[in-house]
Amino acid sequence: MATLKGGAPAKPRRVLLSGGKTPEPTYRILASAPMKERLDWRTIECFFADERPVPPDHPDSNYGLARRALFDPLGSDAPRAYRMRGEAPDLTLSARRYEAVMRDRFEVPPPTAPAFDLALLGLGEDGHVASLFPGASPPENPMRLVVAVRVEALQMTRITVTHTVLNAARRVVFVVAGQAKAAALRRTLAPDPGKEPTPAARVSPSEGEVLWLVDRDAASKLPGDRGIPIEEARL
Ligand code: 6PG
Repeated sequence: MATLKGGAPAKPRRVLLSGGKTPEPTYRILASAPMKERLDWRTIECFFADERPVPPDHPDSNYGLARRALFDPLGSDAPRAYRMRGEAPDLTLSARRYEAVMRDRFEVPPPTAPAFDLALLGLGEDGHVASLFPGASPPENPMRLVVAVRVEALQMTRITVTHTVLNAARRVVFVVAGQAKAAALRRTLAPDPGKEPTPAARVSPSEGEVLWLVDRDAASKLPGDRGIPIEEARL
């Protein structure tokens, strides 16, 4: 994922960060010793998978979470971060502008999709990923990278990357914890026949790998007989 100090690459590594609650401990570990010393965040550019319709200093802001838990603790070593402007009055325009920044930084015109070195994602209890919720219709333009989506279940509009971005990533890491996610994890990794795949299940990078980091509670409903390769990490 990140560049170890001393190994600065010719071009920056680019990561896609998620919000919600799960990532906070991960961000705090990355921003503290010994990880802080091992990663050269100045060679990394951070983008966001989605954002709520709030300003960056709002407690629900995904950017605000990363700033509090990762960027501020890193101080002068903090990475460059590109924030989705969730506070904008026109979220469709905000999404288009974010897409333009993404294409500009990656230097990829349509139809090429930007290939993030790492996408750090969470899983919603309904199987959503980023702000791609079940039942949401895909964007009319399949090459769209960032859209504004109305999430009726939450009675709000959010900005989110599309599956086009997630499926172009070189590496996707889902971090999932807690019993409340067990049903969604099972529906995502071991769906019953004929069931609609969850939005998270549709994250299947054509040339990238997907790694699921889950705790025992979240994994508690995974069937043992579906050939899901599970490796137990001893922390
Ligand atoms: C968001 C996230 C979202 C999150 C899941 C899980 O804006 O909420 O990007 O996709 O990853 O909802 O959220 P928790 O980590 O809070 O369970």
